[in-house]
Amino acid sequence: MRIGVLTGGGDCPGLNAVIRAVVRKGISTYGHEFVGFRDGWRGPLEGITRELGIAQVRGILPRGGTILGSSRTNPFKIDGGVERIKSNLADLGVDALVAIGGEDTLGVAAKLTDLGVNVVGVPKTIDNDLGATDYTFGFDTAVNIAMEAIDRLHTTAESHHRTLVVEVMGRHAGWIALHAGLAGGANVILLPERQFDVDQVAGYVEKRFQTQYSPIVVVAEGAQPLDGQMVLHNQELDSFGHVRLGGIGQWLAEQLEAKTGKEARTVVLGHIQRGGTPTAFDRVLATRFGLHAIDAVHEGDFGKMVALQSTDIVRVPLADATRELKTVPVERYTEAEVFFGS
Ligand code: F6P
Repeated sequence: MRIGVLTGGGDCPGLNAVIRAVVRKGISTYGHEFVGFRDGWRGPLEGITRELGIAQVRGILPRGGTILGSSRTNPFKIDGGVERIKSNLADLGVDALVAIGGEDTLGVAAKLTDLGVNVVGVPKTIDNDLGATDYTFGFDTAVNIAMEAIDRLHTTAESHHRTLVVEVMGRHAGWIALHAGLAGGANVILLPERQFDVDQVAGYVEKRFQTQYSPIVVVAEGAQPLDGQMVLHNQELDSFGHVRLGGIGQWLAEQLEAKTGKEARTVVLGHIQRGGTPTAFDRVLATRFGLHAIDAVHEGDFGKMVALQSTDIVRVPLADATRELKTVPVERYTEAEVFFGS
């Protein structure tokens, strides 16, 4: 078989580990050939490829980003997009695709499957918000980066008797905020799943100052104040209809400073959470996903996504994974609340 590989959506540590595993096993165990598509769905749409053999995947296991490039291209938003993909795949002699991505990239993969394109999906995203899999790779690395930042911010918060607000990514799911906040000992954690009362947050902050320690507030970029509008930098939508989030941290720090009379500063971790080398957990998960994805392709089991369930890698229908976002359940948030303000 000749198999195309692409990576779409926001980059994430571990993408290269998947590519390496797919190509290494695909060539050495099954004798397949590979072609790399550039920049997510833009590659098959415009027929932009790069060579992808054993030599090209040497040394990439620890490298962040993706050697194939990425984009948020949505072929269903482009006139004749699906027909162009089908004709480019036919011209290039590509029998099947491995699509590595999150809800948007795999949503396209699910729809293309229904239109007769042979696709196997691999779940990636630092947000950990895909259904049908316990974890996506990239999440563990993002959490560890955010945790280390929180550890460092504790010491400067104490030295200057300040509130430090740490804004983390995650879009409409609070997984990064919850895990990084718990691991880093945050005094308040605010998630998109539950609107917050800014007066209650100010109360937690004051209580923490009374213990002679300084508060760290972890806020997810998608968190919202009660009955408030989401605080956005701009209203532009990408081709999947997502707004760019961000700005809640700055807004919250201003509110907390005004309400408590204590200096409050904001740190926005942003794309640092997606950069650099993957953790061991993410390297292993990404590698196992890649090995199982090429097995699925070899067996002609298309329209599936590889997923982690407990410690096993299983195959689930692509449609199951993309049907709805996996958000933080209320009982997980309740666990964390024990530490708020103390
Ligand atoms: O989905 C991953 C993610 O990093 C989200 O957490 C964040 O909201 C979004 O991507 C940012 O996207 P971009 O890098 O395109 O601004």
